[in-house]
Amino acid sequence: MKQKIEKVLAELEELKCKTAKEVEEARVRLLGKKGEITALFDEFRTVDKDMKREFGKTLNELKQKAQEKIESMKENLGGDAAAADSSADLSMPGDPFELGSRHPVSIVRQEIVDIFRKFGYDVAEGPEVEDDYHVFEALNFPPNHPARDMQDTFFVSAGHPNPLLLRTHTSSVQVRAMESMKLPIRVICPGRVFRNEAISARAHCIFHQVEGLYVDENVTFADLKQAILLFAREMFGPDTEIRMRPSYFPFTEPSAEVDVSCNICHGKGCNICKGTGWLEILGCGMVDPNVLEASGIDSKKYSGFAFGMGLERIAMLKWRVNDLRHYFENDMRFLKEFNSSIEV
Ligand code: DAH
Repeated sequence: MKQKIEKVLAELEELKCKTAKEVEEARVRLLGKKGEITALFDEFRTVDKDMKREFGKTLNELKQKAQEKIESMKENLGGDAAAADSSADLSMPGDPFELGSRHPVSIVRQEIVDIFRKFGYDVAEGPEVEDDYHVFEALNFPPNHPARDMQDTFFVSAGHPNPLLLRTHTSSVQVRAMESMKLPIRVICPGRVFRNEAISARAHCIFHQVEGLYVDENVTFADLKQAILLFAREMFGPDTEIRMRPSYFPFTEPSAEVDVSCNICHGKGCNICKGTGWLEILGCGMVDPNVLEASGIDSKKYSGFAFGMGLERIAMLKWRVNDLRHYFENDMRFLKEFNSSIEV
């Protein structure tokens, strides 16, 4: 036994490995299940009792030496060993990391915000869970006024004199802006709105609007018309024309709906503009004096205009999306269509 130990010891002293593979082979040969040192431990069981102490010590020392040598050889080979050892094929193509794309509604919102920023408008935001006062009352919808039915409302807490509800339009942010900002006010307010509507290709219970408000001395309908015309030309192209049709909103007087000339058929009539040559894009008007007064603004001194538009509608016109539900279903095939619109 003694001789065998010495032989392995000598072998260990001589041991030199150049590659990780050789180190691993040496480890198996010496310390593996059927390795030489392992075999010596097996043999040790049969050694005479009085010799056990001496052999036990040398055997343990041998094992420790072998382990240390193997470890140090592995370390010395370092990165080379890992590379040589690894079965990775470095020429294999990597896992592609797909870039996300911006949602069409976000793209349109950003475009509108950028256009109005150029005209000197600030961006304002307000809460999605609003109270009746900011969504209706301060906007000249008296209690029980039939105009409230124009917008089916989701109530959060009903039966209260000023119940909480999910805002049905971003016009509520005009009220907050008039309450909190110094005059003159020039803001646009993008945001999500909610209506209790059956979901279909043309209606959804969630959608997005951008509201605009300008209040100053001597603001006139001509200013409104000019602001909308400039916006329409930036958004839909320099040849775009607008037309205004009289309309009704409780918070503006007079009120109008605005159409832009169809940028697909250029007025000839196509199935997008339903043969009319015009596409409706927004509602607007001169802020009703009652609305100014409700927010503490002197309507004798100040006047203003406001407008509001649906982002899904604008995106629909821009990309000819024919079903509102696409915007909310997150179907990758739909979302990927807008990849090219990424702005970094
Ligand atoms: N709040 C209106 C809606 O949701 C849109 C609107 C129309 C906003 C006219 C305005 C406006 O500021 O002047 O249908």
